[in-house]
Amino acid sequence: MLGINKLPYHATLQLPSKWKECKEIVSLDGEWLFHWSPKPENRPVDFYREDYDVSGWDKIAVPGNWQTQGYGTPIYININYPFVRNRPSVTTEPPKDWTAYENRNPVGSYVTFVDVTKEMLAKNLILHFGGVHSAMYLWINGQRVGYSQNSMSPAEFDVSKYMHVGKNKLAVEVYRWCDGSYLEDQDMWRLSGIFREVQLWVRPLVHIADYRVTAIPNDDYSQAEVQAVVSICNTGKKKATVCPVVMIDDLSADKTELQINAGDTTNYVFHYTLKNPRLWSAEKPNLYPFSVELEDNKGNTIEHFDYHFGVKKVECVGEVFKINGKNVKLRGVNRHDHHPRTGRYVDDATYEQDLRLMKQANINFLRTSHYPDREYLYELCDRWGIYVMDEANQESHGYGYANQEMGEDPAWKDAHVDRAESLVKRDYNHPCVILWSLGNEGGIGPNIQAMYDTVVALDSTRLPFYDCHPRYSALHDFGYPTPDILKTEAEKETEKPLIAREYAHAMGNSMGNFQEYWDVIYADSSIAGAAIWDWVDLGLYRSGKGEVKSEEFLYGGDFGDQPNDGNFNINGLVAPDRKPHPHYYEVQYVYQPLTFKRDNDGTIRIINRDSFTDPSEYDMTCDTVSFGSERLLNVYARLKEDKPWAEKGFVVAREQFVLQPYEYPSLPAKKSGGKAEVTINGNTLSSWIVDGHEVLQGPLEPYFWKPENDNQRAAGFARRVAEWKEVKDVTVNYTIINDSSILVEMDYQPTTDRPIIPKVGMRMRLPADYTHIRYYGRGPWENYPDRKRSAFLSEYEMPLSDYETEYIRPQDNSNRCDIRWFEISPQTSAVGPRLRIAGLQPLCIRAWDYGEEDLDADPRHPQDLQRGRFVNLNIDLNIHGVGGVDTWGQRTLPQYTINGNQPYHYAFIIMKCNSGHI
Ligand code: GAL
Ligand code: MG
Repeated sequence: MLGINKLPYHATLQLPSKWKECKEIVSLDGEWLFHWSPKPENRPVDFYREDYDVSGWDKIAVPGNWQTQGYGTPIYININYPFVRNRPSVTTEPPKDWTAYENRNPVGSYVTFVDVTKEMLAKNLILHFGGVHSAMYLWINGQRVGYSQNSMSPAEFDVSKYMHVGKNKLAVEVYRWCDGSYLEDQDMWRLSGIFREVQLWVRPLVHIADYRVTAIPNDDYSQAEVQAVVSICNTGKKKATVCPVVMIDDLSADKTELQINAGDTTNYVFHYTLKNPRLWSAEKPNLYPFSVELEDNKGNTIEHFDYHFGVKKVECVGEVFKINGKNVKLRGVNRHDHHPRTGRYVDDATYEQDLRLMKQANINFLRTSHYPDREYLYELCDRWGIYVMDEANQESHGYGYANQEMGEDPAWKDAHVDRAESLVKRDYNHPCVILWSLGNEGGIGPNIQAMYDTVVALDSTRLPFYDCHPRYSALHDFGYPTPDILKTEAEKETEKPLIAREYAHAMGNSMGNFQEYWDVIYADSSIAGAAIWDWVDLGLYRSGKGEVKSEEFLYGGDFGDQPNDGNFNINGLVAPDRKPHPHYYEVQYVYQPLTFKRDNDGTIRIINRDSFTDPSEYDMTCDTVSFGSERLLNVYARLKEDKPWAEKGFVVAREQFVLQPYEYPSLPAKKSGGKAEVTINGNTLSSWIVDGHEVLQGPLEPYFWKPENDNQRAAGFARRVAEWKEVKDVTVNYTIINDSSILVEMDYQPTTDRPIIPKVGMRMRLPADYTHIRYYGRGPWENYPDRKRSAFLSEYEMPLSDYETEYIRPQDNSNRCDIRWFEISPQTSAVGPRLRIAGLQPLCIRAWDYGEEDLDADPRHPQDLQRGRFVNLNIDLNIHGVGGVDTWGQRTLPQYTINGNQPYHYAFIIMKCNSGHI
């Protein structure tokens, strides 16, 4: 059963930003009365009755999830179902330690009351639920109205005949799981409740049931055929005469009167030719406002909606994906609808923040993984310019990727089709949509074919997409390739454009080798683009009834949820509170629309990656900066005017060139003779007393180990390179230059076959007060050899807490590359002197207020780290890259690893700075 008494799906009638002022909409959002039962048997069966006393019930926020408001347990699970797989049952007895054992299928019973006047009752009353997870029954004033599943799409019911004048009781019973949950097995928090808007639409008896607008340019783009099909229904008891009016740019066609019999629906078609249309694209999101109205036979407006359309063409020409005739590249990201406090309900301000940050990162393509988001998101994409792959809420991953069980079972055909139909019908009028995705990691077979046929029949102006088999897709998907594999796959596929609907798994400290992907993508016109997995870490706060209990971001298992997939949902470019991670900036750089090259004669050449924008549309600025002997040229392309997502002057693209390289200090001519209070034991400097202060809380020693990040953990890095927990084949030479500086030289000469080296360098520990850092190198954000292009050379100054990156699951972090010199000082000179480390070649330096052993102990959260006992400083020649392909086995690309079978030599001078403190 997919629904009882549901009204047909239709396009969003009114622009979401105008819902508040729309006269037909009464918002029912707010506090509802609520009762939660862990099992269906315990639910208050009669609660919908008018005489059932709900006065003692709790209050819950609608929209919202109940788990984020203190009821039941959020469960984070990736591939498997959170209940025993035994379709259509969701209550088969699971193992006792599963959350679903005690909470077999929790039920949320919701009640609210709505006042209805006589005038309202004379109209057509439609109750609209934007999204309810996973299934709901509806009663009004004790009478059963209907049922719905398909939780990410609206459900609407005609409630006119159940309402009366005065106070009406609305009762909604929501089940955490239903048979529809077999198609909702997305890798995400499994949350429940009425999580999107609830509205009572008070509509004229004769009203616009739906409208669809297409605006397709002709072959030479000199004009566009605009077509609006408006469905008007008569819900009254009498034949009616109305006049639909579609207005574009203040122009409307001649008025035609329509006669509609009681109970009938009629289509009115409006044609309009737009001359020299301004095309819509993500770069130039030109929109044409239009309105659709109904007038009664006296010329009074009885209904009015505002919307917009865009003129664009999406097509595959052979192997090339094109928008408006151009081989546009989709610089994409996947995004789950997620908020750390409200779960699956994401408010408008957060939508705006997300899209602002995406536009600022030069992202032009968004996949709404893995279901339709709230309508407002699409309006923003229309207005600000983002191409959207709109995805149907269909994933049966628990049966396997491309499974036949769900794809072929005829009993599940309608359920599949329902999800395709609801997707296309709701979002049809959004110009931002370029691809309709049939879902993610679902079945293959006739049920998917039926989805495909439905999408194609409903809309010929966008292309269908599916990841599980190219048969159902205009583009061939290849997920999580390495850059090399992306290249070869694109070469192998000769019929369709290739897309990586997911790539660059941004889990934890990640996004290495990102430029390598785009070198491949830009070089091959048959690659349409690729979308990063994914936008935001899906961490949740611990929330109780109406309050946030802790600001710590929690992941799978933190709520005692079983089974769970741990931190596999922490894969974002931004944190749950939308603070960009360091790797966000690498995306911003690699995705920039302009690339700058400098010829030998000093000419700067610009390569334009955009299709509809000329570089002259930006303000180009440059500055030359000198740091000591090094001279740098920074080039910027800036916005000439304010945009909704950034102000005039915002840097859209940038590059740095070295005009004159840094002169590293040379080896002191006289290598010995100085005096200092030091203790040297072999390779180790175990004590250095400067001005009466011991600066070494832990020795300066050769040290080749580094803790794993998530990518490395998944690839068995620690196991493979375990022998580097102990340093080998190394000689360190300490030369006392004078009483305040020591030359440190390290030599590595492999004596036998060695694995790759985590990092080549040294480590030392300073007193805990050494928390202020100034350096000249790449920054300001964390960077690693395979992720450093966005981090320009400069002089940076920051507290240790900013130098560190706090990953939600603690892991290796804080590296800066190409450091020429690095200073670190305590807050006051009473603790000790300011120290300076000057490389004789570039250095990689990491600094933490905890040690490697603390990370290796595998703490779940930053709060579990014991901080502040010392400052741990790693001073390296080189460090293993972060990796950036996937987090289930792919290793860091070989060019970013350190071969253990060749010698290394590096040196630096460590000295006391005389001039005060930073
Ligand atoms: C993909 C899947 C995503 C997510 C990702 C791993 O294959 O489509 O939903 O699970 O892997 O983070
Ligand atoms: Mg999946």
